[in-house]
Amino acid sequence: MKPLLNALVTALILISFQAVAQEGITKYIPSAKPERIVLNITGDQGTTMAVTWRTDTTVSESVARISRNISGVLRADSAMAVTGKSEDITADGVTARFHSVIFTGLVPGTGYSYCVGSGPDASEWFTFKTAEAGAAPFSFLWFGDSQVGPISSYARVIRQAYRSVPEAAFMIFTGDLVDGGYAGNTLDDEWGDWHRAAGFIASEVPVAATPGNHEFYNPHDRQKRDLNMYWRPGFTLPENGPAGLEETAYSFDYQGVRFIMVSSDQMLRDEAIARSQTEWVESLLKNNPCKWTVMAFHHPFFSTAARRNNKVVRENLKPLVDRYGVDLVLNGHDHTYARGVVMPDGAEQRGRRAGTVYVVSVSGSKQYSQDAAPWWEAGYTNTQLWQAITIDGNRLIYKAFDASGALADQFMLTKMKNGSNRIGLPPEVKTR
Ligand SMILES: [Fe+2]
Ligand SMILES: [Fe+2]
Repeated sequence: MKPLLNALVTALILISFQAVAQEGITKYIPSAKPERIVLNITGDQGTTMAVTWRTDTTVSESVARISRNISGVLRADSAMAVTGKSEDITADGVTARFHSVIFTGLVPGTGYSYCVGSGPDASEWFTFKTAEAGAAPFSFLWFGDSQVGPISSYARVIRQAYRSVPEAAFMIFTGDLVDGGYAGNTLDDEWGDWHRAAGFIASEVPVAATPGNHEFYNPHDRQKRDLNMYWRPGFTLPENGPAGLEETAYSFDYQGVRFIMVSSDQMLRDEAIARSQTEWVESLLKNNPCKWTVMAFHHPFFSTAARRNNKVVRENLKPLVDRYGVDLVLNGHDHTYARGVVMPDGAEQRGRRAGTVYVVSVSGSKQYSQDAAPWWEAGYTNTQLWQAITIDGNRLIYKAFDASGALADQFMLTKMKNGSNRIGLPPEVKTR
């Protein structure tokens, strides 16, 4: 290339890079290499698994490969190739392609390995295990709002959680995963940070996420309350909830436990959606073959601050939680930690008999003050937490840990023959 032409091309590249940099996309420019690889919970964890990832638009095929998690050397050409679909997202002048593949026909209780992409741009191989066909012991992780400080604060929380419970069956996120355009960041930067914090953990431990109010926050138009444009392309979550709430309100049964994920922000803002979700929740509780039931959503019935009150969510759902004896309700939004038992309306707690256990938690650096309430048995402020919940037959063992891995709170529910629970402490683990 002639020197003058060379200089001109260099100048054009610099100008175009600056134009992009000025618009804020400086950290996460997509390439042909797969990134943001997320394993997703499906409606049937025994025989299906879903994976999503992102590339640039030069990658035309959405291909993932899957094999049994064999003892010998894995070869890409002996794995089964599965083709899915893709969707392009353009934000701040940069277009990314989000791919989605659903693996079907898997064998329950079996280890698998998978990679996404092809040839030199294929990802590394990841592993996962399908759910057992019937009830069996398992543990899952739960995180409240990561929202602010994903790199500086939340990264060490999820990494500590994975280090402590590497066999976790999946991870529940109760909304406000991102903030929605804080401090001049773009949505893409925030999602990029969230994925960077999770790293390969989200590629191996399936994600079960439901949105919070900040996933309905459009930084380009504060009046708009659309679902964050990265949510549906970035995840491949179940579409088995009420019509119009696909991948935000859904349910799944896992080894004898029914999980119901509610989209509480949409419930608060739209009466018809509140009604449709309430009817849907009731149908799941009324026809429930599982011994245990866990509900997870963003806005708590009982806020940890006096000025915050999610009346619509409480008035629609608490009567159902009471009537059908939901065991555990997991919430975020209040940026503090509180845990306690709330009996059905009109009933008193006596001795170790437990009503539903409610917990509010937070995993990121955004922390609020709290006003103590009579129902609390544990409460924390200015503490980032993660939770591990183990269900084993008639026992549900709940433990909350801080970012350093230190135990912050715990309880155990024991299911009695009549279906009611007793609450106490988990047995001491003997360490010689
Ligand atoms: Fe929130
Ligand atoms: Fe939040």
